[in-house]
Amino acid sequence: MHGTILTVCNPKGGVGKTTIAANLAGLLADLGQRVLLIDGDTQPTASSYYAIVQRAPQGLTGLVQMPYTSSGSIELDQFISKSSIDRLDVVISDDPTGKLSTWIQQTPDGRTRLRATLRKAIHNYDIIIIDSQGAMTSLLQAAVIAGDMLLSPVPPRLMDTREFTRGAVQLMQDLAPLKDLGIPIGNLFGLVYRVDRTNDSRNYAKILTSMAWEQYRIPVRFLSTLVPERVVYREACTAQTPVSRMDPHAREIMCDLVTELWPHLSDTAQAHSQGTSK
Ligand SMILES: Nc1ncnc2c1ncn2[C@@H]1O[C@H](COP(=O)(O)OP(=O)(O)O)[C@@H](O)[C@H]1O
Ligand SMILES: [Mg+2]
Repeated sequence: MHGTILTVCNPKGGVGKTTIAANLAGLLADLGQRVLLIDGDTQPTASSYYAIVQRAPQGLTGLVQMPYTSSGSIELDQFISKSSIDRLDVVISDDPTGKLSTWIQQTPDGRTRLRATLRKAIHNYDIIIIDSQGAMTSLLQAAVIAGDMLLSPVPPRLMDTREFTRGAVQLMQDLAPLKDLGIPIGNLFGLVYRVDRTNDSRNYAKILTSMAWEQYRIPVRFLSTLVPERVVYREACTAQTPVSRMDPHAREIMCDLVTELWPHLSDTAQAHSQGTSK
C-alpha cells in the first residue's frame, strides 16, 4: 500500500506549476491529509511558498541521491522540513547551481532512485506532491518517473500548443520504454490554467488531446476543472497561505481539482468547498 505521488510537470517555465503544487498541498493538508511537498526545482520557489518553521539538515539533493536499499521501509526524517501549515511537510530544494542534474545523468540508476525512495517511505504520508523544473533536465525526468500521476498546467493559447506537445507529451513518449523495465510512467492529466473569459478552453483541451494522440500516441486526459487567471493566486503566494483559505471561489475550484484527482476525497472536498466541513 502506498499513497499517491503526484508530479506537477511542464518543461515550460511560468505556467503555474509551483502555484498549483503548493495550493493543492495546502488544501489537502486542510482536508486532513498528511502531505509532503517536494520542491524539485533548482529555483527554490515551492520551498518558500509556505513559511518553514523547522528546517531539516538536508533537502532535495540528499533525497534524490539516496542509495537504493532492499530493506522494507526507510525513514526520511533528515530531509523533512516542517511548514507552518498543519500536516504539511516540505523537502527543500538545495541545488541552486543545477549540479544534481549532472549527478543524475552520470549515475546509472540516477533517474529512478527518487521513485524507489518515495515508494519505500510513503507510509508517513497520504499524498506526496512533487513540483518540478521548467526545463528539460534529468532532474525533471526523475520527478516524472517518481509520479503515480502527472499533472501539467497548460496556458490556453493556441501558440503554446506545440510547447506542450514538444515538452510534456514528448517527455512521456521518451520515458514510455521504461515500462518494459517494470517502471510504468503515470497517467498524464492536463489542466487548462490561467483561463480568461475570452478563451474557448474546452475546445482547446480537445485539440491538445488529439495532437498528443496523433503525433505521439500519448493519451492525455484534460480535467474538466479550469483555473482562471486571477490576482488572488498571487496574493495568496505573497501571504504564504493556501488560496483556498483566502477566497471562496478559488476554494471551490481547488476542491473540484482535488475531487477529480483523488475521487476518494470527493465528499470531504465538496463539504469543504461549501463551508460545511467541521
Ligand atoms: N491562476 C493564476 N492567476 C494569476 N496569476 C497566477 C496564477 N497562477 C500563477 N500565477 C502567477 O504566475 C507566475 C508563475 O507561476 P508559477 O506557479 O511560479 O509557475 P511555474 O512554477 O510553472 O514556473 C507567478 O507569479 C504566479 O503568482
Ligand atoms: Mg515553479
